[in-house]
Amino acid sequence: MQKTVVLGVTGCVAIYKACEVLRGLQKAGVRVKVVMTKNATEFIQPAMFRALMREPVAVGLFDDAPGDPIHHISLAKEADLFLVAPCTANVMAKLAHGIADDLLTTTALATTAPIAIAPAMNVNMYDHVATQENMQTLKARGVRFIDAGEGYLACGDVGRGRLAEPDDIVAAAIEMLEVTHDLAGKHVLVTAGPTVEPIDPARYISNRSSGKTGFAIARAALNRGAKVTLVTGPVALGDVEGADMARVTTALQMRDAVDAAFDDADIAVFSAAVCDARPSNPSKRKLKKGADDEALMHIELTENPDILATMAGRKRPEQVVVGFAAETENVVANARAKLERKHADMIVGNLVGEGRGFATDENEVVFVYADRERRLPLMNKDDLAHAILDEALEKLE
Ligand SMILES: Cc1cc2nc3c(=O)[nH]c(=O)nc-3n(C[C@H](O)[C@H](O)[C@H](O)COP(=O)(O)O)c2cc1C
Repeated sequence: MQKTVVLGVTGCVAIYKACEVLRGLQKAGVRVKVVMTKNATEFIQPAMFRALMREPVAVGLFDDAPGDPIHHISLAKEADLFLVAPCTANVMAKLAHGIADDLLTTTALATTAPIAIAPAMNVNMYDHVATQENMQTLKARGVRFIDAGEGYLACGDVGRGRLAEPDDIVAAAIEMLEVTHDLAGKHVLVTAGPTVEPIDPARYISNRSSGKTGFAIARAALNRGAKVTLVTGPVALGDVEGADMARVTTALQMRDAVDAAFDDADIAVFSAAVCDARPSNPSKRKLKKGADDEALMHIELTENPDILATMAGRKRPEQVVVGFAAETENVVANARAKLERKHADMIVGNLVGEGRGFATDENEVVFVYADRERRLPLMNKDDLAHAILDEALEKLE
């Protein structure tokens, strides 16, 4: 059956590229229905899209659509994918907060189809904490972002915020339309984030893991039909809707939550950055500089349980265990040593530090096996999540 993309078009300079996106989708055999914001019509007349689509263009919430009194609901139901390209900072903010004050945003709220966003804006608008928080909110809800790298912007600035190339937007949309439920009936266990090991009620030992990769894997597995358990350390990310969430703090708590879910899991992906050690005797009261210098300057540590090694050591032959190795050097050699030491099926090795890996939205990794390795290009964490699940599924079958 022919798939339908509802293409949301918003008010920004990159709007001319929406015509190419529309044409690209049509060439791929997709039916496209365009919804414009009122401000978008300040940049391009609806007639342009009407000519390319040979269908009416929807703009006003209260316009009379022929034979269709509640246009936002019919559009919402028709969509196999709701794609906003280009998406302004304004529409992104509205979508993040459930605001529905025009046809585009009301349709977005009414649809149950997957949503993809290709942002386009000035670098300062893109980097603004409000925009970044809105993006995180939407990502946590499973909205897919199709981002360009850095580049020259229409305003003359250089940086993030440039609309992705139309070909890349079309390719991502097609991929989303074709997503199969190839993990239906499978249970995927994912660990994410750092662990936090208290020294006293105020101080702790932890690391820079943001949890973004693990959360992306959980979302991708859910989209592919899996039952998902997500065990996460403290992170600034909202719950993954549909996943069985276990929020923990310490490595010992993470071990217990993983222990409870592991035997039932078909695939277990250990992306959490578990602290190797914890303070042996965390103080119940805040240690005082001066009076408690001895305790503060000589923190005795106890090794934490190795969750990956413990679980992989007891895995059944039909279970697949994937580990992560974040390294600052010799990624492949270190990842292979970890694979052998911990009896995992695969290690995802990645270079971290100097702006790479932790807390970024992109990553460049290498899949390391006992007898071979596969290098992947730099990709966003959503694409990486699917690549990891593809690999795990292949091992499972
Ligand atoms: C010439 C011009 C270019 C603009 N370019 C952008 C842009 O690239 N990205 C963006 O988020 N807003 C841009 N804006 C601001 C938006 O048009 C403005 O926030 C508007 O309220 C967006 O409306 P909409 O989100 O309902 O389409 C631009 C405004 C003008 C006048």
